[in-house]
Amino acid sequence: MSAKDKLVIFDTTLRDGEQSPGATMNQEEKLRIAKALEKMRVDVIEAGFAVASQGDFESVQAIANTIKDSTICSLSRAIDADIDRSAEALKNANSGRIHTFIATSPIHMKHKLRMSPEQVLEQAVNAVKRARNLVADVEFSCEDAGRSELDFMCRIIEAVIDAGATTINVPDTVGYAMPSQYGNTMKQLIERVPNADKAIFSVHCHNDLGLAVANSLDAVMNGARQVECTINGLGERAGNASLEELVMAIKTRPDFFNVETSIRTEEILSTSRLVSSITGFPVQPNKAIVGANAFAHESGIHQDGVIKHRETYEIMRAEDVGWNANRMVLGKHSGRSAFKTRLEELGILFETDHAMNEAFSRFKRLADKKHEIFDEDLQALVSDTQKFVASERYSFVSLSVSSKTGDVPNSHIVINVDGEAKAASSEGAGPVDATFKAIEVIAQSNTDLALFSVNAITGGTDSQGEVTVRLESAGRIVNGRGADIDIVVASAKAYLDALNHLTSDAKVKGHPQKNGV
Ligand code: KIV
Ligand code: ZN
Repeated sequence: MSAKDKLVIFDTTLRDGEQSPGATMNQEEKLRIAKALEKMRVDVIEAGFAVASQGDFESVQAIANTIKDSTICSLSRAIDADIDRSAEALKNANSGRIHTFIATSPIHMKHKLRMSPEQVLEQAVNAVKRARNLVADVEFSCEDAGRSELDFMCRIIEAVIDAGATTINVPDTVGYAMPSQYGNTMKQLIERVPNADKAIFSVHCHNDLGLAVANSLDAVMNGARQVECTINGLGERAGNASLEELVMAIKTRPDFFNVETSIRTEEILSTSRLVSSITGFPVQPNKAIVGANAFAHESGIHQDGVIKHRETYEIMRAEDVGWNANRMVLGKHSGRSAFKTRLEELGILFETDHAMNEAFSRFKRLADKKHEIFDEDLQALVSDTQKFVASERYSFVSLSVSSKTGDVPNSHIVINVDGEAKAASSEGAGPVDATFKAIEVIAQSNTDLALFSVNAITGGTDSQGEVTVRLESAGRIVNGRGADIDIVVASAKAYLDALNHLTSDAKVKGHPQKNGV
């Protein structure tokens, strides 16, 4: 038996992470991520903001119905309708949590809520009481705690614990806090709130000043026993505290932290790649833990040291976070059953035979061109198949590109629009530019290209290129992803995917923090 306290890992990739511009995910994608988080042994998965839209409700519900080993949480403002909707979505959860919040900082109460502190306190207590009548596990957050007054937070926290809150979250919503200061806030709250022992204190930090992980760890040093975080640090603006950095800091420094987590760290890398591929947010090479360079030793001096004695320059073992894991590889001789088995191991089940057949024939086509098919290839292939079977508005048919030194590149594309094949040609500065212009001849979307990025999914020149395209139209931002061995085809698929997102119903989705309660 360990004498250390358990640190609850609360992942909000599917809620706060999804609030990153363009990171909207569909239900199937969220379920795939939720299964990876469960496999990693995340304690609490914040699956969404159920009241945001019918799609969000159904995603939270599907996750609550499927995931059995993690607690599933739904966010709700301190409003009856939000709380009731969350409870409905969580009805079949093995373990369900309602997370309700209201802002407590003077600036938010005055300008956003236009409410007095007394009104805020009353609304918070009513919300927690209502939630506690519906589920046993209720979390309350003081939004913008980083800029809230300590005395007021002590009062409201005492009152919501009396009303039944079991977890108290202290979010640095705007990423304003400094590590020792935030740690001290946590310490003061736990010392001064008379019934603090009846709840778990939690921390939730944003990364606007690059301090989200540091602030969270300082809060843990000062008594927080839950951390809220996201895979790859995805999240609103500069993101949230990154799960992989927090977990590995605690695992690497047991001499320093008096807590431990239940996370299976070997699952970190594959989950990071899954989230990156689904959201279209690439991981920078020098990102701690999961970046391509995180365990690469370039300089001769370092290499020499590592070869002689690994610990000279390595504080963690790459294999502990899933690097160099023995990944199962499929190839052109792999049959349908090997393909299906591997998908099942990755938590992927197709709802129809049609989808499974389509995925298998895509796998065969890819295996003809690419020697070894890795899990990352399969994840990209599944995303492509799901889009195809969902009969989205725009889909890729074929492409012919001419590009020769000294000549102006030209692209001829055929796409399906609402089931009807349409063709167009265009010249451009390069093959990708010509292809996007050819698509625009047909789509006439009137959008701005805000980002274009290409990543190799795996190593080798036969790797599939994974392209992210971000389009902006009338204030809406969407990301599209596409993967193919031919990066111009991948780019065309990503552009069409972004157009599909623009025409989808995501525009009616509510944002939990934009409207006053
Ligand atoms: O950053 C924040 O304050 C939040 C709350 C809704 C918990 O995400
Ligand atoms: Zn947040």
